[in-house]
Amino acid sequence: MGRGDPRKRAPRRGADLRLLRRLWPFVRPQGGLLLASLALLLGTSAAALATTWVLKLAIERHFETDTGAGLGVLLAWFCVLALLEVVGRALGTWTVDVAGQNALLRLRSTLFRHLQALSSAFHDRTPTGRLVGRVTTDIEALQEMFSSGVVTILADLIFLCATVVLLFSLQWKLTLAVLVVVPLLVGLTLWMRVRVRAAYAKMIDSRSRLNAFLHEHIVGMAVVQMFTRERRARTGFDGISGDMRDAQLRSVWWESALSASTEKLSHLTIALILAYGGALLLDAPAATGLTLGALFAFIDYMRKFFVPLNDLSLKVTVLQSAMTAAERIFDLLDRDDFLPEPASPIVPPRTRGAIAFDGVTFGYDPAEPVLRGVSFQVACGERVAIVGATGGGKTTLLKLLTRLYDVQEGSITLDGVDVRELPLSELRSRIGIVPQDVFLFGGDVLHNVRLGHPEISEAEARAAADRLHLDEVVKRFPLGYAEPVRERGANLSSGERQLIAFARVLAVAPAVLALDEATSQVDSQSEHLLQTALHELTSGRTSLIIAHRLSTVRDVDRILVIERGRLIEEGTHEELLREGGAYARLHELQFDENG
Ligand SMILES: Nc1ncnc2c1ncn2[C@@H]1O[C@H](COP(=O)(O)OP(=O)(O)OP(=O)(O)O)[C@@H](O)[C@H]1O
Ligand SMILES: [Mg+2]
Repeated sequence: MGRGDPRKRAPRRGADLRLLRRLWPFVRPQGGLLLASLALLLGTSAAALATTWVLKLAIERHFETDTGAGLGVLLAWFCVLALLEVVGRALGTWTVDVAGQNALLRLRSTLFRHLQALSSAFHDRTPTGRLVGRVTTDIEALQEMFSSGVVTILADLIFLCATVVLLFSLQWKLTLAVLVVVPLLVGLTLWMRVRVRAAYAKMIDSRSRLNAFLHEHIVGMAVVQMFTRERRARTGFDGISGDMRDAQLRSVWWESALSASTEKLSHLTIALILAYGGALLLDAPAATGLTLGALFAFIDYMRKFFVPLNDLSLKVTVLQSAMTAAERIFDLLDRDDFLPEPASPIVPPRTRGAIAFDGVTFGYDPAEPVLRGVSFQVACGERVAIVGATGGGKTTLLKLLTRLYDVQEGSITLDGVDVRELPLSELRSRIGIVPQDVFLFGGDVLHNVRLGHPEISEAEARAAADRLHLDEVVKRFPLGYAEPVRERGANLSSGERQLIAFARVLAVAPAVLALDEATSQVDSQSEHLLQTALHELTSGRTSLIIAHRLSTVRDVDRILVIERGRLIEEGTHEELLREGGAYARLHELQFDENG
């Protein structure tokens, strides 16, 4: 991953500027809020500096001279300023965060939209966990950049400068003396920061290893349990988990060492002020212009000076991690594996549903075609089955028809229009797909039938489901159609999942049906149910059915046999049996199994 990759950290500066420029469009609409927060934070700083000044005046005018008149006014000022400081700081940090969250909201939805637009080829190649990380963890890192980012750093810097000016105005010799400590502090902090950062990078790395391990072993828990791999999985987990603890401890150790030592250094500085300033005060108060109040103010300013100074290095680290995250986010946004939308799209008014494959050649790796010169036609309203050995390229045919991928050679047409000339959404709304692995979303049964289509009413969805006799299945569920579907439909059988997928398609009533039958064997009762449902689904529409079961093939108009990427036979069930070729052999095999 990027964080551990030294190549990615090398060209920092220029890259950071480029990243900031790219972030700008997301931040710009928040410009007003950011300015407001800068003003608030600066106001807060001014109030903080002024409270000390008020105390200085109180000491000089009243405590040193022992007069009480006017002290009340100063105390009132003190209270007002303190209140302003509290309110200003709260509002200032809040507005920065509002601006940040707004900007990230836009970035997040841009990312999600981008993910949706990226082609199947991209998603097939890219691990899911990594993409999830971009939209969650990396965005979070950017959020931190806002809260301790440019605005607060700017406010801190202005505060530091103002404090130095005030210190000089109080007593320049004393200021010069204490400022000697500052380079020491900065040096020490930087040195330790490097260690903190290295430890932090290790921690992030071990965390992502732990996440990957967890994800794999929770999803594959059934396999772990069935193959009694628990002990080995546990050992693996404990190993990674231990690494994570070590990395975390190392990071915490350097963090606490850093904060303890900077705190001590600031105490040392105060001791220095007391010693040197005290000597000046006692020796020649008139010549140096130093009063007890001024000395107090000096110490208080110095204390306030150290807070942002210590924070600065931390904020720089946060900025650096944010830049790494931004880099990864923009890397993803730069991916442009889109399927091209047609330049001048053709939208035929109605789909009749004639399909033609003409010399289609395609390979997931272009050098290794999985389909070679496949040509066939499906007339309007015809039911055609595709059969063949596993891995022959049947599912791939459907992926090309719905343009999850584009053909390398040849063409596919729908009603005479090349699928690449139809707008993607138009093409996909005209073809109803039942995929081989039915994917169900969380929600109830009816929700999965409607798939969030606003134009399908609940009644229509229910009618579609009833026509497929889904109601017979559903009435066994305690909550009927409202029965919750667990993650990926884990609480449903594969037959039930298929029926839901059928109903999904029937509810949108497309002109063309493309069905990829699940390979799994089903019992004869479900077989009957699926068979009737399929008949209902295919009636009156062009259907391309990838069939694994004999019963499916029985009532289609024509059968295509695909073997190793080629169309080798074509005809009706009887014709193909008579020919005694590949289909006849396939039929014999299944008949043996079933008989
Ligand atoms: N996303 C992918 N990336 C790379 N290769 C793939 C991908 N999907 C499938 N393949 C390969 O393409 C070939 C055809 O796969 P396809 O899924 O079309 O077979 P199939 O005929 O549907 O098989 P089955 O009957 O088992 O469903 C196989 O060799 C498979 O390994
Ligand atoms: Mg398949």
